[in-house]
Amino acid sequence: MTATAHRTPETVAEELAGRLFEAGLGAMELLTVGLGDRLGLYRALAAEDAGVTPTELAAATGADARYVREWCEQQAAAEFLDVDDTTADAQDRRYTLPAGSEAVLLDPDSPAYVVPLTGFLESGGRVMAALERAYRTGGGVPYADYGVQHAQGGFNRPAFTGRLVAEWMPTLPDLDAALRAGGAVAEMGCGVGWAAIALARGYPDATIDAFDADPASIDAARANAAEAGVADRISFVVADVTDPALTGDYAGVFAFETIHDLADPVAALQTARRLTRGPVVVMDENVGDDVVAPAGPFERLFHAASVLHCLPVGRCAEPSAATGTVMRPATLRRYAGDAGFTRVTDLPIEDAMFRFYRLEG
Ligand SMILES: C[S@@+](CC[C@H](N)C(=O)[O-])C[C@H]1O[C@@H](n2cnc3c(N)ncnc32)[C@H](O)[C@@H]1O
Repeated sequence: MTATAHRTPETVAEELAGRLFEAGLGAMELLTVGLGDRLGLYRALAAEDAGVTPTELAAATGADARYVREWCEQQAAAEFLDVDDTTADAQDRRYTLPAGSEAVLLDPDSPAYVVPLTGFLESGGRVMAALERAYRTGGGVPYADYGVQHAQGGFNRPAFTGRLVAEWMPTLPDLDAALRAGGAVAEMGCGVGWAAIALARGYPDATIDAFDADPASIDAARANAAEAGVADRISFVVADVTDPALTGDYAGVFAFETIHDLADPVAALQTARRLTRGPVVVMDENVGDDVVAPAGPFERLFHAASVLHCLPVGRCAEPSAATGTVMRPATLRRYAGDAGFTRVTDLPIEDAMFRFYRLEG
C-alpha cells in the first residue's frame, strides 16, 4: 500500500505542493549559504561579535556593498543571521552570526558542518543536460564532469577526522595493531584524501598508498596532505582500481564509499584481494535489505544521490554492474563472493550514514 492510499486527491496535491515548495526554498537558501561561504562572509561575520553593517562586511571581504546588503537581508529573513534593527537605514543595520552557527558554517571538521551540501546542488545544475541524455540513452555521466570532488570530500571529512581512528579502527584490532607498528595500508577511491590523512595523523609510524582514478582528486589530496603535514607518509596515486596490474602486500585495504560507484565492483574487490592478505574494509551506505517507501531522510538522500550521481557515474564504462548509491548488503556480499572472499562480517559500528563490512579469505 502506498502512502497516499487514504488521502483525497486535494490533500495529496496540497501536501505535495507544500513539500516541493519547501524543498525548492531550501535548495535556494542552501545556495545562498554556498555564496556566503565562497565570499568569506560568514568568516568575517564570526570575527565581529558586535555585528557588522553590510558596508563593513563588504569592506572586510572585498565584495560589493550593494550585493552584500541584499545577501544580509536574505540571510536575516531566513534566520541564518540576526539583525539588530530592521527600522534602521539598510546600510546601517548590524548583522551577527548567532552563537553555535560556526560549527555548521565554518568548521569543516564538525559533524554539523553542512556547507559541502551546496557543492552537490551546484553539481546538479552542471550535469542536468548530460543526465537527461544518459537517462534517454542508457549512457553515463563521468565523475569529473560533476565537479563535486571537494563537496564529496568535505561531506565525509568530519567522520574521517573525528571517528575513523577513534571509533572505527578499534573494531579492527589486527589492522589497528599493524598500523601502530608502522605497517602500510592501501585505500581504493581515496577522493581528496581525508581518510588517508586521518589515518596518517592517527598512526604516526604508518604509511598509506591511496589510489583514485580522478586526477583532480589526487591533486587536491596531495595539497590537503601537505597542509596537514603528513605528505611524507601518504602516496596519492592516479590509478584505476579495477586494473589487474595493481598488486601489493599491504596489511589491509580500505574502500570508503567507493564500491557502489564502480562499473566493475567485482574487479575492484579482486584488486583488493591482490593488495592484501589482511582484511579489506568496505564502508558504504547504510541502507536496508529492500526498498522502503516512504523512507527516512538518509535513505531518501541515498536514493536522490543515486538518481542524480552514482548510477550515472557507474554507467560510464561498459559493461557496468549499474549498482547505484543504494547498494544493499546482499549485493555487496554477492560482489565479495564473486571476487573470491570467503567471509564478510558487519563491523559493530553504529552510524546513521554508513555500514561497515570486513571482507576476508
Ligand atoms: C563517492 S567518491 C568517495 C571518495 C572518498 N573515498 C570519500 O569518502 O570522500 C568515489 C571515488 O571513487 C573514485 N573512483 C571511481 N572509479 C574508480 C576507479 N575505477 N578506480 C579508482 N578510483 C575510482 C572516484 O574518482 C571518487 O573519488
